[in-house]
This record gives sequence, C-alpha cells and structure tokens, in this order.
Amino acid sequence: MTRSPAALAAADAVRPLVAIALDAVAAGAAARGGPLPPGGPGGLGAGADPVPERGVGAEAALRALVARFAAGAADPADPWCAAHLHCPPLAVAAAADLVASVLNPSMDSWDQAPAASELEAELTRGIARLCHPGAAAPDALVTTGGTESNLLGLLLARESRGRVTVVCGRNAHHSVTRAAWLLGLPAPVPVDCAGDRVDPASLAAVLARVDGPAAVVATLGTTNTGALDPLPEIEAAAVAAGAWLHVDAAYAGGLLFSGRRALPSLARADSVALDLHKFGWQPIAAGLLVCRDAGVLRALHTTADYLSADDDTEAGLPDLLGRSLRTSRRPDAFKIAVTLRALGRAGIGELVDHCCDTAAGVAAAARAHPALRVWGEPSLSTVLFRPADTPDAVVAQVRRDLLRSGRAVVGRADLDGELWLKLTILHPHATAETYAPLLDLVADAARRAA
Ligand SMILES: Cc1ncc(COP(=O)(O)O)c(C=O)c1O
Repeated sequence: MTRSPAALAAADAVRPLVAIALDAVAAGAAARGGPLPPGGPGGLGAGADPVPERGVGAEAALRALVARFAAGAADPADPWCAAHLHCPPLAVAAAADLVASVLNPSMDSWDQAPAASELEAELTRGIARLCHPGAAAPDALVTTGGTESNLLGLLLARESRGRVTVVCGRNAHHSVTRAAWLLGLPAPVPVDCAGDRVDPASLAAVLARVDGPAAVVATLGTTNTGALDPLPEIEAAAVAAGAWLHVDAAYAGGLLFSGRRALPSLARADSVALDLHKFGWQPIAAGLLVCRDAGVLRALHTTADYLSADDDTEAGLPDLLGRSLRTSRRPDAFKIAVTLRALGRAGIGELVDHCCDTAAGVAAAARAHPALRVWGEPSLSTVLFRPADTPDAVVAQVRRDLLRSGRAVVGRADLDGELWLKLTILHPHATAETYAPLLDLVADAARRAA
C-alpha cells in the first residue's frame, strides 16, 4: 500500500516555506516602519494579476504576497495600533494555529478530528466550569467570535422560550440587532444607559411593557468604553420577568483569568459570549458561547447521514454536528488549549491586568494633559479622550490624519453627544509611557488644525 507523499511530508514541506514567509513578514514590517502603511487607502498600490494563468511557485508567491501583506498591515504588535479590540496574538497561539492549518482537522465529524474533537471537548467543558462553577452540566461551543456567540445565544433563547423580544442597552454591540434580524425576531427594544452602562430602572420599565417572552442582553465590556453593565440588577430584572439572560462578555470575559480584578458572577446567565481573540491574545477566530445548562444545546441537534448516522452514533462515534451552525470547521479550540497549557489562567490574567493598569495610567496622563480631556475612568483597557475645546469635525480629522500618516491607529466613539478618540489597549508589554508621545501628537495635531 502506498501513502500519499502529501500526507507523509506535510510538516517537512511546510517547514522551509514557514521560514520564507516569516522572513517576508519581518521585511514587510520593516518596510512599513510603523503600525499602519502611510498614504491611506490609495497609497497601497496595485498588485499583480490575482488569478494568473500560470503560477510562479510557492517560494516566489510567498515572498511577493507576504511582503505586500505585511508591509500593508495594520499591525497590533505595534502598541500605537490601538483602535479596536484587535490583539497582537501570542507566539505560542500563532504556532498552534499553524499546526491546525497543517493537519487541517474538520470539527464536523469524529473521523476527521479524533484528537482535535477530544481536546475541544475538554477545553469547552473546562471553560464552561470556569464560568459556571456551581452548575451541574455547563457546556460551551466554539464560535468565530462575539458576533456568532450573540447570534447563537439569541437562537437558543428563541428555541427555549419562543419568539422572544430582545431587550438590550443602547450600548450593546451592533451584532445583537443583526442577530435579532437574522432570527426573524422583532427589532431589539433599547434600554437607556448612563455612563455607557444599562440603567436598571429603564430596563425594568422596558420589560414591563414587553408582551410575551423576552431575552435580555447585558454587556460586560462595551465596545466603546469597556464599561460593565450592572449585572446583579439586570439579572434580578430578567429573572423577575422570566426572561432569558444572555451576557455579552466578549471583552470583559478575560477577567475570568485575572487574579486582581473580578468578573461579576455569571451564575444566572443562560448564555455567555466570550472572545479570546480580544483579551486572550489568540489569532482570530477564538470565540466561545457558554451555556449554564448543556441541555439547551439540544436545539442545535441535526443529522446528516454521511457525518452522523444514527447507527454510527449508537456504536459510539461522537456526534459533533450539533456543536456548531457550521459544517466544516477549524479546530480553533486547539490554540486556546495550547495557550492555556503554556501560560495557565494566571499567566493570561497577568496580561489582562497589565493592560488594565496601562489604560489607567494613560487615562491619568491624558487627564493631567493641559490640552486634553478624558471621558471617564477606564473600566477595562479602553481610554476615551479628546482634545479640549475642539469641534468634533476636527477630532475626526485628527484621527484620519494619523491613519493617513501611518503613525497611529486610534479609534473613535460617539458618546454623550461628543466624538471621542479611543485607545483600546491590548498590547501586553506597552506601558503608560509608551502612549505619552501619542497624547502629545494628538494635542499638537488638534492645535494645528484649529
Ligand atoms: C462587546 C462586543 N461584542 C461582540 C463583538 C463582536 O465580536 P467579533 O468581532 O469577534 O464577532 C465585539 C467586537 O468588538 C464587541 O466589542
């Protein structure tokens, strides 16, 4: 019997190409020289024919396109690339992700992923127990991120409670509204916020008006400010109304690992979105949807004879199809498992705490700056600030000028009637001092533009 050379030699074939690709990444990053390529959207230049008749070979293709990809990257490994919840991945996680690409297990049936599916089951059960230490049978599914987790959470709400009305703060992620739309649910009823946190009195008033079953969405770590909704009060209102409670902890979920900062108890949450490609330093995608009671996941059960025939399942082959809405699926749990094995919960928690400390230091420096104002004290690692006495249009222009110059990637947030600049600090080694020159740069740019 002969075996395919590809199967025998995948690792050996990839090894020299990885070296070439990583050299090209380094060359591209050096050519870029900052967090973003200068020149804005028009400055990247045109590439070669993307669908050529004949190829140039693996090495030449990698050299050419990796160099372009890297030179033109928005690179989260640069601390001044801090607009979004877009983290620099840990080396160990990137290496594990490479293994996933090389072995290419697909998570829709055991015969494509024997060890990968076991590792996934161990990891998801472990994460579920971390979220719900007191629950009898918690479980978690691997998702592509907060968007899919929010969709799945609301799908499970609909399957468990009927055609729910989604009730969420005006601070909720936009994917909640999209999920309701996709699921054929009424448009979410917005709840007022104060300080980017749901106002419990407004929530109670909204729930009193909802006719029929409701699903309440709370956010722990909002996209704009990192604020945490008051979960105990929201839980009380949700329980009193008999509502499903979905907690979007895509950002603040990282506090599960922290030794110094506590995540509010998730014990009453029916479903929880976590996202380790934010505060978890994973390459995208690394989302999780945690359920307090694994029984609700039966709603996702489906069969396909070629993947999960009843007699195979009865004979003991695990049925994986109901663990996602996707069919073919990458083993994204693997890199998370390797990272947790490497750093432990404490190691990740230290990175989370470091970023929160850095954000507190940056906010203090911005507050002390004569030409800047800050929005409030950071709850996690997001700092909102703006040049004082400057119109919104100039604030927006300062951000775009920074992008165009390639010097910094700063975010924006419309909040409390003003436009703010946003630093979402996920760089695990940057310190407040790293950002001091950026604060000066923003202040100077605003002064010149005024
Ligand atoms: C609070 C919150 N929920 C959900 C999401 C969506 O996550 P993803 O982009 O991984 O789908 C985000 C993205 O930033 C977010 O901030």
